[in-house]
Amino acid sequence: MLNKVKGKLISFEGIDGSGKSTQIKLLKEFFNESKRKAIFTREPGGTVEAELIRRLILSKNKKVNFENKTEILLLLAARYEHFKKLIEPEILKGKTIICDRFIDSTLAYQCRGNIELEKFYFKTSKSLIKNFEPNLTILLDIPPSRALHRINKRKTTTNKYDEKDEYFFLNVRKTYTSLAKNNLRIKKFNALEKKSILADKIKKSILALID
Ligand code: TYD
Repeated sequence: MLNKVKGKLISFEGIDGSGKSTQIKLLKEFFNESKRKAIFTREPGGTVEAELIRRLILSKNKKVNFENKTEILLLLAARYEHFKKLIEPEILKGKTIICDRFIDSTLAYQCRGNIELEKFYFKTSKSLIKNFEPNLTILLDIPPSRALHRINKRKTTTNKYDEKDEYFFLNVRKTYTSLAKNNLRIKKFNALEKKSILADKIKKSILALID
């Protein structure tokens, strides 16, 4: 039902170090300059309650190690808050929402192709947000070795996933690639392309949806 209304949800996905934040920043500038309106938000987070849950999920405290299903439940709890308080009402008003990460992050980072975890995720997610999904997903694809190189150049790591190794990200990337193969809403872009060229391509596919 919600997917049939005028409002649109566009998500950005990619492994850490794919340049997602830079591209979202460039898109935000373009929206401002061209007087287009959109709500920019992120997951986990986007509301006061969900941002609180984000702190738990991304805690770098080495003693904190959630069970896989607990982590999925926490992400879904944050998503439900975000969905009920922001995404659903704004979409119903016809707004465009640009979200830094959404459902595909949970499949790629938490499930990583594990069938039992996927089953658990789909069942629980369905009971909360039904079959709601983005109208368009911008996936920034990059080999993990290159992404890790970019992350290591940063002065500080910002969350616990920034500290994972290449093997972890190879699996995350593999899951993203297979999601893109099976879902037409996911458009995959080469994240190694020049920043401005990539920004133009992303802009084109977003404008084709909202203008
Ligand atoms: P991101 O916004 O890319 O981090 P940063 O603040 O460093 O720019 O995303 C935060 C982290 O959350 C990212 O490492 C992936 C993780 N994440 C999941 O593991 N599963 C999810 O479902 C979501 C939404 C995020």
